[in-house]
Amino acid sequence: QKTDVAALPDDEFLIIAHRGASAYAPEHSLLAYELAVQMKADYIELDVHMTKDGELVSIHDGFILSPDGKKAIVDTTFQELKLLRRESDYNGSIPVSLLTGVDPLRIVSTEEIFSHFGDDVNYYIEIKSPTSYPGIEEALLEQLHTYGLLSDDGPIPNVILQSFDAASLKTVHKLEPSIPLIQLYSVKNETMPTKRQLRKVAKYASGIGINENVVTEEFVELVHEVDLDIHPFTVNEEAAMRRMIDLGVDGIFTDKPDQVPKVK
Ligand code: G3P
Ligand code: CA
Repeated sequence: QKTDVAALPDDEFLIIAHRGASAYAPEHSLLAYELAVQMKADYIELDVHMTKDGELVSIHDGFILSPDGKKAIVDTTFQELKLLRRESDYNGSIPVSLLTGVDPLRIVSTEEIFSHFGDDVNYYIEIKSPTSYPGIEEALLEQLHTYGLLSDDGPIPNVILQSFDAASLKTVHKLEPSIPLIQLYSVKNETMPTKRQLRKVAKYASGIGINENVVTEEFVELVHEVDLDIHPFTVNEEAAMRRMIDLGVDGIFTDKPDQVPKVK
């Protein structure tokens, strides 16, 4: 039993709504998150960047296509982002009236998300490109404290943080060791992590996230041997979901949280 990293639940299979229920609504919109909650996802997944004026926003890419062309998030204010609507891929089949206040389709800040859902919802938050945003870890932790999201007493952690950037995760681990951390791997860009590398990861993280297509039974065993959990991404087809469950992974990222077969 590890004592210096936060524990993840032993027997829970975690359904992580990737960018919200993003198969059904614009990714990272309040609507996509709301749908994920209705579909009983265990977590809503946020990808976090920081704007020019220091606002943390949930959006996948580090840039946005504005009428003035491609702009980096770090060079754009939150007010500018708010005005860039992104409902073009929304087919209108979901009742938006479920939501009040913030436009359910626009780009939202983490503060708006935390204030909308409170601690009724669990958050699986990715720190994106942290080297572009000095201080992003501290800013995010401050918000998590402010919104009371770190005083865990539920069956699963209220917050899990993830990043491809090991240095960022180590910073968080030093500042707030109670938060479970997930080291992400993109095996398109890197080779599969070795047992030796995974042992090092287990010193600060509770698990890994990795592309689903590279996950094998042997790899799941290897990850579990070093006392890490494994959450493959992004698993959207029923056969792939079943394959992951059969391999014994601990949860999946999916755009379709309503399609995950019952595990127990
Ligand atoms: O965070 C896990 C997975 O979401 C990583 O891929 O590109 O969808 O953020 P991406
Ligand atoms: Ca992500």
